[in-house]
Amino acid sequence: MIAPILRNRADLRAQTAIWRKADETIGVVPTMGALHQGHLSLARAARKKCDRVIVTIFVNPMQFNDPDDLRNYPRTEDADARKLESIGVDLIYVPDADQIYPHGFATTVSVSGLTDMLCGEARPGHFDGVATVVSKLFSQTSADFAFFGEKDYQQLQIVRRMAMDLDIPIEVIGCPTIREEDGLAMSSRNLLLSDRARVYAPVLAEVMESLREKLLAGAAMGDIYPESEARIMAAGFNKIDYLEMRDGVDLSLLQKAKPQARLFAAAWLAGVRLIDNIAV
Ligand code: PAF
Repeated sequence: MIAPILRNRADLRAQTAIWRKADETIGVVPTMGALHQGHLSLARAARKKCDRVIVTIFVNPMQFNDPDDLRNYPRTEDADARKLESIGVDLIYVPDADQIYPHGFATTVSVSGLTDMLCGEARPGHFDGVATVVSKLFSQTSADFAFFGEKDYQQLQIVRRMAMDLDIPIEVIGCPTIREEDGLAMSSRNLLLSDRARVYAPVLAEVMESLREKLLAGAAMGDIYPESEARIMAAGFNKIDYLEMRDGVDLSLLQKAKPQARLFAAAWLAGVRLIDNIAV
């Protein structure tokens, strides 16, 4: 059965109040829709851990830097609801825009430090938009657990920091990146790739895997970067926003591998920005 879809916070609160009264735990999976296996794995993790599961779908204008990107973002609500059917989520929350940003809305949640690098550098303001909408979704759903993919690893760390700093009583759970058979990390943006670009997209993950091997063998990032950059560009990518090794917790830049190190990449292929990260 397709889960009920609610579009305003009063209806949502009425439902969660009933669950709370019955002492049931609530898990939330925040998404912007265009659901793929990555999202479904988050919903499954929530289903396993929580008594009640809410999937939210909201294409959040505040986190887009480019109006064309916002306009072109895939919107597939009916298909999304059908995909969630087999997992048995309890409720899909698709808030109308004014339920998140009512007239006169004037508050921004901004996490400093962790947002200055990687995607934060290439997309100024993006993470303020993410932190603001996620804090609203946490408070509107009053969830006990929230499930985020490691695919957006920087986002996961920022959301953890934000929940901790604002004393939001929620546990943020990171779930592994789900990949296509050829290694491409699943992303709603993959739908925007042309057939030709899709063929070359996995090169980003391939290059990261071979970087990892060299780093584990003791190489320094600066020495092996040029060859990796050349491989990515030779595959038809137009621009690399970043290809860096960083600490997995504080995201500080690293040259040599150490425990908790991760590789992070963002690159443009035929007008589509792809991101990926792996543990070293
Ligand atoms: O990862 C996403 O899809 C979005 O950034 C999120 C967390 C749903 C906030 O809009």
